[in-house]
Amino acid sequence: MITFRDFYNNKVQLSFQDHPFSKEPKHVLVICKHREKWLLTKHKERGLEFPGGKVEPGESADDAAVREVLEETGGVVTNLHYIGQYFVDGKKDYVIKNLYFAEVKELKEQPTYFETDGPVLLLKIPENVNFNSSYSFIMKDRVIEHAMEYIEKYFE
Ligand code: GTP
Repeated sequence: MITFRDFYNNKVQLSFQDHPFSKEPKHVLVICKHREKWLLTKHKERGLEFPGGKVEPGESADDAAVREVLEETGGVVTNLHYIGQYFVDGKKDYVIKNLYFAEVKELKEQPTYFETDGPVLLLKIPENVNFNSSYSFIMKDRVIEHAMEYIEKYFE
């Protein structure tokens, strides 16, 4: 278990074990790769981030991951890999998110990208995005750093 504070000073616990916090988490975050590039979305308020969101009633977290990638980027997930889970103690509330690595073969233009401006492809995520206002707070904690290391070790 890795513990740290996020951009808002909330306590975050991250684990690469099999669903350590919940078998049915209500949130997902999907680190996507498309043709050697990272596939992100530009959230209209938060800025650049990997696609993700809430699991809908009756939906599995894995299905939510595939749906969110399509809705927010137009990306068609060909391989979805669960890599871990994290718990954010948001003081008022807590959030448990499944963390995935997804391989995306195709980008299909969508009529709407919902609360985002759609896909953004990047060769590299900059080292320090903490002071970069183009990036979402979701990208500004150690979840991304650890997940990238994990992906490099096991998938590349
Ligand atoms: P809505 O119901 O859509 O309004 O959602 P919300 O704004 O209440 O946010 P949500 O339930 O998704 O998350 C609640 C709080 O948890 C947020 O305000 C964040 O502080 C925190 N949070 C959510 N997702 C993440 C994440 O991926 N990383 C970190 N560090 N914090 C998160």
